[in-house]
Amino acid sequence: MERELALEFVRVTEAAALASGRLMGRGDKEAADQAAVDAMRRVFDTVHVTGTVVIGEGEMDEAPMLYIGEKVGTGVDPRVDIAVDPLEGTNLVSKGLPNALSVVAVAPEGCLLHAPDIYMDKIAVGPRAKGCINLDAPVADNLRAVARALERDVRDLTAIILDRPRHAKIIAEIRAAGARVKLITDGDVSAAIATAIEDTGVDILFGTGGAPEGVIAAAALKCLGGEMQGRLKPDGEEELRRVHKMGLEDANKLLLLDDLVIGDDIFFAATGITDGDMLRGVRYSGQTARTHSLVMRGKTGTIRNISATHSLEKKPYYVARSAGCSQE
Ligand code: FBP
Repeated sequence: MERELALEFVRVTEAAALASGRLMGRGDKEAADQAAVDAMRRVFDTVHVTGTVVIGEGEMDEAPMLYIGEKVGTGVDPRVDIAVDPLEGTNLVSKGLPNALSVVAVAPEGCLLHAPDIYMDKIAVGPRAKGCINLDAPVADNLRAVARALERDVRDLTAIILDRPRHAKIIAEIRAAGARVKLITDGDVSAAIATAIEDTGVDILFGTGGAPEGVIAAAALKCLGGEMQGRLKPDGEEELRRVHKMGLEDANKLLLLDDLVIGDDIFFAATGITDGDMLRGVRYSGQTARTHSLVMRGKTGTIRNISATHSLEKKPYYVARSAGCSQE
């Protein structure tokens, strides 16, 4: 994939963020998600790739746009697989809480795990702790190994984890080991990425979240030189059938970073929707709006922070179609 594509992919996440950011705090997560999907889909039509959505808004019969298997792009080479989450953290936007993002990961055809929309157990760390984690090891062992790699005490580490009843045991184990804990209400993509970015104050992600989000986070961690491991958690026969339908024979396999994302010819783009640890949220000001994005290329390890000012007048799809939205 040519390096110029980086800017194309960031346009896609910018558009989704600009559209859904309008709906921050309005208590309508469906409308915010729809605005992000509409805008992202529209900009994808201008990107010079033949893209297949492998992780998207759902199966073809569940989602009218950005569904799994949908073709996007102008239909020229390269042929790529695309994982999208136009609005990662629907609750975060609807409540105006931090760390909602719009994200896209792109890799050559066949290089992203086709994860169904079920849960995945996850563990993730940044580059300095790469090679030290094991999803199957006790929590305390992982914390000790990461502390050694970072040349710190366990009590100086911060573990991030979704605040869910299913995590009570892991949270108790982290606390018993003496590490600090950051509980988040939503958004484990941004949490996983935070482990690999200096100054976020986050060192390791534990816990179970969405499998599609796991693949997207893995793409980012690959670009950042970090590490992630996962294991799908199909609940019942129907979910197991979906795992097999996606071409995954062993549903119980420990998925290493190279199983989640093959190779390093990857792009990852994210734009902040609400303010967060790594990205500022969208700022609107009359007929302009500002966005803050990260775009990364796995092949070279380049990480670009892109701050952009957009004319809302000239880009009507940047304005969310929602009742009560004064820009309409
Ligand atoms: P949505 O943007 O689809 O609402 O997902 C947010 C999220 O918090 C993900 O980041 C995470 O992987 C998943 O939901 C966790 O699922 P659950 O809310 O069922 O625990």
